[in-house]
Amino acid sequence: MYYGEKVRLRAMEMSDLDEIMKHWNTYETRRFLYSAIPHSEENERKWLEEVTTSTPWKSGSMVLAIEDKKSGQFLGSVSLDNISTQHRRAEFGIAIHDPKNHGKGYGTDATKVMLWVGFHVLGLNSIFLNTLVSNARAIRCYEKAGFQRTGIFRRALFTEGQFQDLLIMDVIADEFAKQHPGSTQIGSPNEEHQQ
Ligand SMILES: CC(C)(COP(=O)(O)OP(=O)(O)OC[C@H]1O[C@@H](n2cnc3c(N)ncnc32)[C@H](O)[C@@H]1OP(=O)(O)O)[C@@H](O)C(=O)NCCC(=O)NCCS
Repeated sequence: MYYGEKVRLRAMEMSDLDEIMKHWNTYETRRFLYSAIPHSEENERKWLEEVTTSTPWKSGSMVLAIEDKKSGQFLGSVSLDNISTQHRRAEFGIAIHDPKNHGKGYGTDATKVMLWVGFHVLGLNSIFLNTLVSNARAIRCYEKAGFQRTGIFRRALFTEGQFQDLLIMDVIADEFAKQHPGSTQIGSPNEEHQQ
């Protein structure tokens, strides 16, 4: 559907449930998210029911599956939430589930493709996120994809025994379009896994 250099973003499917349950409750992945509390299969099924039937404008949310372009392997998901039609703004989120797949460039590529979708398909003007200041890998990934550091929510998240600061980052449509105009793509279907 949407291609990067390493990944393909496509609609989430109910059939992704088994793949999600393989690594989603891995602490090394979830410790950087808002809640490291385990999610049951039933919980994930309900979430999938929501995201497989949502539309960006009615539900204010768009969640896409991240796949390895070559192997077709399910890697995780990437999202735009709290989509505001008035302000044309949305909040970005991403998780590559299996820690073995961290640091291989998938996150940066998927982030760029989702920004491309947000700006050039949905017509958004601003995409923001917040992340733990201790999540150096995520911050590096976001900066490589085009996000800038905008501010700090001080001691906004209680995790691993302490209140930690959250870094706020954003990217504006004009800035992104300078690097990636709407007439260009992040990647192409070349080397796509054939089912
Ligand atoms: C955050 C996440 C999406 C990033 O995706 P990724 O595929 O692992 O990241 P990439 O490989 O594209 O890029 C990571 C960059 O950070 C660098 N990096 C890795 N660990 C680092 C560290 N401890 N300190 C600084 N930089 C680090 C890598 O070297 C790479 O930069 P480089 O290409 O210049 O060498 C992914 O790791 C993930 O899902 N983590 C768990 C959940 C999470 O943190 N989600 C985000 C919540 S805000």
